[in-house]
Amino acid sequence: MIPLLDLQAQYRSIKKEVDDRIQEVLDAQYFIMGDSVKNFEKEINSYIGANHSFGCASGSDALLLALMAIDIEPGDYVITSPFTFFATAGAISRLGAIPIFIDIEHDSFNIDPEKIREFLEGKSDLSKKLQIPFEKIKAIIPVHLYGQMADMDPIMEIAKQYDLFVIEDAAQSIGSKYKGKDAGTIGDFGCFSFFPSKNLGAYGDGGLITVKDDTLAEKTNILRLHGAKPKYHHKFIGINSRLDAIQAAVLSVKLKYLNEWSHRRNEIAHMYSSLFQETGLVSEYKGCSECSSLSSCEFPDRKIVLPKETTGTPEENGFHIYHQYTIRLKNRDSLSEFLDSEKIGNAVYYPVPLHIQECFLKFRYQLGDFPVSECVSQQSISLPIYPELKEEEIYKVVDAVSKFVNL
Ligand SMILES: Cc1ncc(COP(=O)(O)O)c(C=O)c1O
Repeated sequence: MIPLLDLQAQYRSIKKEVDDRIQEVLDAQYFIMGDSVKNFEKEINSYIGANHSFGCASGSDALLLALMAIDIEPGDYVITSPFTFFATAGAISRLGAIPIFIDIEHDSFNIDPEKIREFLEGKSDLSKKLQIPFEKIKAIIPVHLYGQMADMDPIMEIAKQYDLFVIEDAAQSIGSKYKGKDAGTIGDFGCFSFFPSKNLGAYGDGGLITVKDDTLAEKTNILRLHGAKPKYHHKFIGINSRLDAIQAAVLSVKLKYLNEWSHRRNEIAHMYSSLFQETGLVSEYKGCSECSSLSSCEFPDRKIVLPKETTGTPEENGFHIYHQYTIRLKNRDSLSEFLDSEKIGNAVYYPVPLHIQECFLKFRYQLGDFPVSECVSQQSISLPIYPELKEEEIYKVVDAVSKFVNL
C-alpha cells in the first residue's frame, strides 16, 4: 500500500523533539498565546521574510481576519478563483460579501490575471452578466494552489490600478517562491493553514496571517483577540481565533525541517515527471482553442498532462513546494478507481468548482461560466507525495498510472 501522505513516517522522524516540546508546554500549563506562539510568529517572519505574523485558529480564520481587517461588509465584492478549497470563498460570503469568480490558467491551475483584467475592464461576458457596481469590488484573493504561486506581478499591477487589496491564500504553499519572493509576502496579507496534511502541519487545526502594513497589522492582531486592546476594552468586533500554544510548539519543531522536506517534495515531483515523460504518455497540451465547455474540450484521449511550473522555474527564481503532485487526464474517475484497487493513494482536489456549489447558487453563476475550472475539476487527480516517499514507490505509482492509460 502506498498512501497519499504518510504523517506517521514524519512523526517517527521527529518524535523525540516534538514530544519534548509538547511536554514543556504541559509543564508550563500556559496554553493560550504566550512564548511558544510569539516565538513561532517570529520564526515565520524570518523564514518567509514577512513584516508581521499572527497565529490564529485555522487557515479559514486567517482569510476571515484579513477580510475583517479591511472592513469587508455586506454588499462588497471580492475577486477569487472558483478552483480552490471552499474556505477561500466561504470567508468572503461569511461576511455578507459576494465572491467574483474568475477562471484559472489551464496549466498552473491558478487564477488567470488576464481574465481579471478583462473583467475589470468590463470586457468579459461575466462582467456584462453580473452588472456589478465596480466601486464595491474591494480585494483580490489569489490562491497559490497545490504549492505553486499564482502569477503575482500582473495581479499586483491590476490591484494597484484598481485600488484593490491583495490577500494571498497561501494555505497550501508555505515556502513557495515567485521571482524570489515568498508566498504571503507580496500582497497586503498572506493566509496560511497548518491543517495536519499541509506541508507544515500541526497536530490539530492551526493557521497564521501575515500582514505588510503596520496599522493593518495592529488591527489584525486585535481582531483575533475579540477586538480588544487592552483586554476587556473592545475597539472592534473581533473573533476568538488564536493558535494553541501546543500547536505552536509542534510547528516550531517542524519548521526547522521544512526546507529539507520541501526540497525533497520538489525532487520527487521532478522524478515523477521525468518517469512519466519516459512512458510516452505525456501530452504537451496547450489548452483548448475554443475553451467554452466541457463538451468542447480538446484534451487528448489516452494521454496525461503533467503539472507545469509556470511561475516557479529555477530560472525565474521561483519554487514549487508540491503540496500536491496533480496530473490531468480525461478518464480521471476510472483512474482513481484503478489506483484504489492497486492500493495506491490518490485524491481529487476539487471535484466541484465553487461557482456551482449549492450554497453559492444564489450568486447566479452557472455551469459554463468557468470552463477551465469545470474541465480541470473533472480531469485532475493528485498522486502520493511526501518527503518520505521511497524511490521504488514512485516507480510503482508511475507504472500503475501508465498501465491504466495503456489499457
Ligand atoms: C486553498 C485553501 N484555502 C484555505 C484553507 C483553509 O484552511 P484551514 O483548513 O486551516 O481552515 C485550505 C485548507 O484546507 C486551503 O487548502
